[in-house]
Amino acid sequence: MSSDVLDSKSMVPDHGGVAADDNAFSFFWRFLNNPMKIGALRPSSQKLCRATLEAVDLKRRRNIVELGPGSGVITRHILSALKKEDRFFAVEIDGAFYRQLRVRFPETAVFHDSAENIPFLLERQKMRKMDAVISGLPWTLFPDRLSRDILRKVSENMSEDGVFVTLCYWHAQYLPTGLRLKRLLQDYFGQVEMTPTVWSNVPPIFLFRCGKSTVR
Ligand SMILES: C[S@@+](CC[C@H](N)C(=O)[O-])C[C@H]1O[C@@H](n2cnc3c(N)ncnc32)[C@H](O)[C@@H]1O
Repeated sequence: MSSDVLDSKSMVPDHGGVAADDNAFSFFWRFLNNPMKIGALRPSSQKLCRATLEAVDLKRRRNIVELGPGSGVITRHILSALKKEDRFFAVEIDGAFYRQLRVRFPETAVFHDSAENIPFLLERQKMRKMDAVISGLPWTLFPDRLSRDILRKVSENMSEDGVFVTLCYWHAQYLPTGLRLKRLLQDYFGQVEMTPTVWSNVPPIFLFRCGKSTVR
């Protein structure tokens, strides 16, 4: 799907009606429209955004990709931390979120596409390897095949000392879905760490921080 394709079925009004901010109501509205794709009732809290950036240590990264940015709450933090020489793009499957991101960050490369197409998008952006991949993807809603496909492509297209971070609800680590995600990550990354939990996020969340061999 091209980055210019818009989702005409979206119920969130375009532009003027699209919240170009971290509006929790518009996020909830998207969730009601497509719960099996969005996977969360509200955007990440500011504290979680900061924890995500800390886990990635952006100062050391050059080629940065975000998967499943939603309304762009983490994107905003990433963009304000980028250095002049850094390169960044985001991939969002939901049409209304995609439009919102385009309005909110007109200078930024955002693709209306699925994370499965990461190799194609990297080629299109002439980005050879990713140094940091920040994922908000709702793994628990994905079939095993899709999760494996995306994780394999991320791992294959990540630099040797790159980092991949993905959000996980604190309670999920004790449930089959969370245990399955951890096992999947261990299948594709040599090192899988858990960051401290952000308790003030509703619900509490931590990040899995993964590297091909060791995470640096
Ligand atoms: C739980 S929300 C996270 C939103 C945001 N990162 C945050 O932290 O508030 C998951 C996002 O992933 C997107 N998504 C789901 N499947 C996707 C896919 N295959 N490729 C790209 N984005 C996807 C959803 O549309 C949604 O915006």
